[in-house]
Amino acid sequence: MENLLQTPIRIEETKTSKIDQIDFNNLAFGSVFSDHMLVCDYKNGVWENPTIVPYGPLSLEPSAKIFHYGQSIFEGMKAYKDENNDIFLFRPTDNHKRLNISAKRMAIPEIPEEFFMEGLKTLLKLDEKWIPQTEGSAMYIRPFIFASGKGFHASPADEYKFLICLAPSGPYFSGKVKVLIEETYSRSANGGVGYAKAGGNYAGQFYPTQLAVKKGYNQVIWTDDNKHENIEEAGAMNIFVRIGDTLITAPTSDRILDGITRKSVLKIAASEGIATEVRAITVTEVIAAAKDGSLKEMFGAGTAAVISPIAAFGFRDTDYDLPELENSYASMIKKRITDIQYNRAEDPYGWRVKL
Ligand code: PLP
Ligand code: COI
Repeated sequence: MENLLQTPIRIEETKTSKIDQIDFNNLAFGSVFSDHMLVCDYKNGVWENPTIVPYGPLSLEPSAKIFHYGQSIFEGMKAYKDENNDIFLFRPTDNHKRLNISAKRMAIPEIPEEFFMEGLKTLLKLDEKWIPQTEGSAMYIRPFIFASGKGFHASPADEYKFLICLAPSGPYFSGKVKVLIEETYSRSANGGVGYAKAGGNYAGQFYPTQLAVKKGYNQVIWTDDNKHENIEEAGAMNIFVRIGDTLITAPTSDRILDGITRKSVLKIAASEGIATEVRAITVTEVIAAAKDGSLKEMFGAGTAAVISPIAAFGFRDTDYDLPELENSYASMIKKRITDIQYNRAEDPYGWRVKL
């Protein structure tokens, strides 16, 4: 492993590992954390001081701008362990690039690739025993940057922190996924920050999602903010619709996260000879297809969600069930992508990166 960092990463190891307290056979998503975390500071115009410390609370100024103006961005990625205990990342430089796209939009200083990659690899090596090997589990990785600089002036902070935390995780959804097509609230708008992984995008979804959960749905499917006519994406995943034998997903835009799983699905589908279309998907056509039987599948795609088949969707007080197919595109694509991620198959696309 080549070390590109000028300053070596300082490591302060924990004296009391928590690993024996974890039931690796019953992991929820993102609720237990490994022994260590990476912390870097941005001060006086430079990123510095990459340090690995025991996972634990941070001390912050009450006037830190993250609390008041929400300058915060994050990424979601996973590390996978194969049966030989080798560890792999999936398209990690894409996450680094996207973090910096988010950074730019939120007036946060970009994080250099060497801080991101060397920090991540060193942290994963240190906590490698924490990477689960149980089927359906992986190490969920959460890199994030927030404004730690102080002051109530509504302007970008002068100090930031970049952290990486690790959460050995099981599936994001338990049970069948039922989604509600939203017509009142919007997640994002043209010219807005929907394409950034900004913390506030998620906070803004919580209230409408709570309303949907009360009605028995797991997630909201967002439609365009202008007319609410087109299906865009879900709270934590991009959406694919299969009408007839064509797999369709919305184009990325200001409003939609450019999902790494989404682009991998499009690539795999095309190499499997599946017809794909990247175009606006109207709610009207999906309902018409549900009624005439040509709507065969809907599924979400994301790092946490992997490929999550949608069992039913609701629209204006009516629920539409999706058929349960024997040989669905979702299951075939999920197998292809997870076989690459867990090093069970060749990786013709060069997506897998060995630690
Ligand atoms: N859309 C949103 C809003 C998300 O939060 C995520 C998760 O990261 C995705 C889509 C899927 O993106 P990716 O496949 O890069 O994880
Ligand atoms: C991910 O899939 O990594 C995400 O960031 C989704 C998150 C909201 C859990």
